[in-house]
Amino acid sequence: MILVTGGAGFIGANFVLDWLAQSDEPIINLDKLTYAGNLQNLASLEGDPRHIFIQGDIKDREKVAALLSQYQPRAIIHLAAESHVDRSIHGPEDFIQTNIVGTFRLLEAARQYWQNLEERTRQAFRFLHVSTDEVYGSLCKDAPAFTETHCYQPNSPYSASKASSDQLVRAYHHTYGLPTLITNCSNNYGPFQFPEKLIPLMIVNALAGRPLPIYGDGQQIRDWLYVKDHCSALRCVLEHGKPGETYNIGGWNEKPNIEIVQTICELLNALRPADYHKLITYVADRPGHDRRYAIDARKIERELGWKPVETFETGIRKTIQWYLEHQTWVASVQSGEYQKWIETHYQGHAG
Ligand code: NAD
Ligand code: DAU
Repeated sequence: MILVTGGAGFIGANFVLDWLAQSDEPIINLDKLTYAGNLQNLASLEGDPRHIFIQGDIKDREKVAALLSQYQPRAIIHLAAESHVDRSIHGPEDFIQTNIVGTFRLLEAARQYWQNLEERTRQAFRFLHVSTDEVYGSLCKDAPAFTETHCYQPNSPYSASKASSDQLVRAYHHTYGLPTLITNCSNNYGPFQFPEKLIPLMIVNALAGRPLPIYGDGQQIRDWLYVKDHCSALRCVLEHGKPGETYNIGGWNEKPNIEIVQTICELLNALRPADYHKLITYVADRPGHDRRYAIDARKIERELGWKPVETFETGIRKTIQWYLEHQTWVASVQSGEYQKWIETHYQGHAG
C-alpha cells in the first residue's frame, strides 16, 4: 500500500480517486482536515476497504511513526501543505509549521522507518514530495521556461516554505540516501478545487453574479495543468522516476489571468446565458505578485514518457461543467470560514 498525505485536499483527493480507479493497491490517507481538506471529496469511496482515512497532522511524530509501522507502505506521496499564496501573505505561520516543520518531521519518520526495512523493500521504497513551480520565482516575458536546474528564487511566504521543504527533501537523499523524488508542478485546475483559487473563484462568483476580482492589470501569466494530468504524472514519477531526481510537470498552457477569466465568462455564457463580462473588476494587486511562471516539461517526457492529455480548452470545459453539476458541493464549502476569508481578503484588495 501507499501513504498519501493531504489526500482530502484538491490534488490529493483527485490523486486518491484516480489511483483507486486504476488499481486495487490500498491507500492510507493522512490529512489534518484544515479548511482546505474535505471528506466530501472522497464520499464516493465510503465503505471502500482500499481507502483508509486517518485524520492527523504530519507534524505529529508519534502518529506518523505508528502509521508507518502498522501499515508498512511501499511509498509516501507527500501532498499535505498550506497551499494558498494569499493566505500566506495574511499569515505565514501555518505555512512555516506545515510546509517546513511538517515536511521535516515526515522525512524523519520516513527515514527511521526506511532504515529498518529489509533490503528488498528498502530498495523499492520511495518518498515522493509534491512541490510547485513557484519555488523558481518570477520569469520575464521572453525568458525560457523553468527547467529543473533553474535557481530557486521564491518570492512569497508560501513559495519560500515550499522551497525550504524541497531543500530538506534533497538533503535527506544526499545525506541519508532516502530514495526521494521531487516534482515541481505548475498551476492546477479541475474538480474539487477550493473556490479561493482563481479558476473556481471566478466560476462560483460569476454564477452568483458577484464581482470577478482581477489583481493589478491581469497580465500575470500562469501555466495551467488539468489536475488529472498532474495525478498521472505523479503516478508515472512514482513508478519510473530515479531517486534523487526532480521532475518539472506542466501543461504547456501559458495564459494571462485576464484571458482565463474572459474564457470562463464566454463558456459560462454559452451554458447559462448572462453578461458575465460586466462582472470583471480590477482590484489592487497582490503584494510581491509574481509576473510569470512557465514550466519546461521536456525532462519528464523525455525520460519517463509522460505528457498531458488535456489541452486548456478541453480541461476548462470539463471544469466548468463539473462546477455546474456540483452546486451542492460548492454551497457546502462556502461555510462561515470561507465567507470570513472572502470578506477580509477582498476588503484589502479594494482599489
Ligand atoms: P489544498 O490546500 O487543496 O490541500 C492541502 C491538504 O493538506 C488539505 O486536505 C489539508 O487538510 C491538508 N493539510 C494541511 N496541513 C496539514 C497538516 N499539517 N497535516 C496533514 N494534512 C494537512 O492543496 P492542493 O492545491 O491540493 O495542493 C497539494 C500539494 O500540491 C501542495 O503541496 C501544493 O504545494 C502542491 N501544488 C499545488 C498546485 C496547485 O495549483 N494547487 C500546483 C503545484 C503544486
Ligand atoms: O504555480 C503553482 C501554484 O499555483 C501552487 O503552488 C499554489 O498552491 C496554487 O495556489 C497556485 O498559486 P497561484 O498564486 O498562482 O494561484 P491563485 O489561484 O491564487 O492565483 C492565480 C493567479 O490569479 C495569480 O496571478 C493571482 C491571480 N488572482 C487570484 C485570485 C484568487 C486574481 O487576479 N484574482 C483573485 O481573486
